Amino acid sequence: MSKLKIAVQKSGRLNEDSMKILKEIGISVDNGKDQLKASARNFPLEVFYLRNGDIPQYLRDGVVDAAIIGENVLIEKGNDLKIVERLGFSKCKVSIAVPKSSELKSLKDLDGKRIATSYPNTVNQFLEKAGVKANLHIINGSVEIAPNIGLADGICDIVSSGSTLFKNGLKEVEVLLKSEAVLATSPKISEENQVLIDKLQFRLKSVLKGRE
Ligand code: PRP
Ligand code: MG
Repeated sequence: MSKLKIAVQKSGRLNEDSMKILKEIGISVDNGKDQLKASARNFPLEVFYLRNGDIPQYLRDGVVDAAIIGENVLIEKGNDLKIVERLGFSKCKVSIAVPKSSELKSLKDLDGKRIATSYPNTVNQFLEKAGVKANLHIINGSVEIAPNIGLADGICDIVSSGSTLFKNGLKEVEVLLKSEAVLATSPKISEENQVLIDKLQFRLKSVLKGRE
């Protein structure tokens, strides 16, 4: 019998809530984390614990059939992929911020300046629309430290509680997008596994309704 392969963030803020919603739809997974793959006991499903940024490519290639992933990651790396359900948790923004003390006040002021980010495609698209030209420094994490070490004039990264911005003396100047966890599927999903996804989605809808 065919098993549905679903990708979940390996570690990070989405992991816990993703596992929680799977549990709420009646899927119990023999713990992963240390293992990169785990099987569900009561549904033909395998969970793959993967790095966020790798998930869009796995979906595209059909290595996994579906994923619980931040919409922001799909916007950055998987604009071609299909979102089948918005899950309502892990809400965040992707924002541009500058040092509180900086004379930069708006997006336009960033023209010709340096922006550190892990979201180059998102930033580029946004800046292009706004007619602003900036130099991007692509870094993978701890982005908010960049202005303090002289690497950039501003940053673009995820803002959730806002505490990382605050702790690093930064202020938000522009919200590029709002994001939440979503269920996305692979364009290569088999008919058999599509039936399984439909079942999961049906259960998800009723759990989400109950959460309202
Ligand atoms: C994430 C994100 C922001 C921060 C936002 O970083 O990159 O820096 O969380 O959350 P907040 O608004 O609630 O502070 P994370 O802690 O995952 O570390 P990383 O950037 O080094 O991967
Ligand atoms: Mg961070």
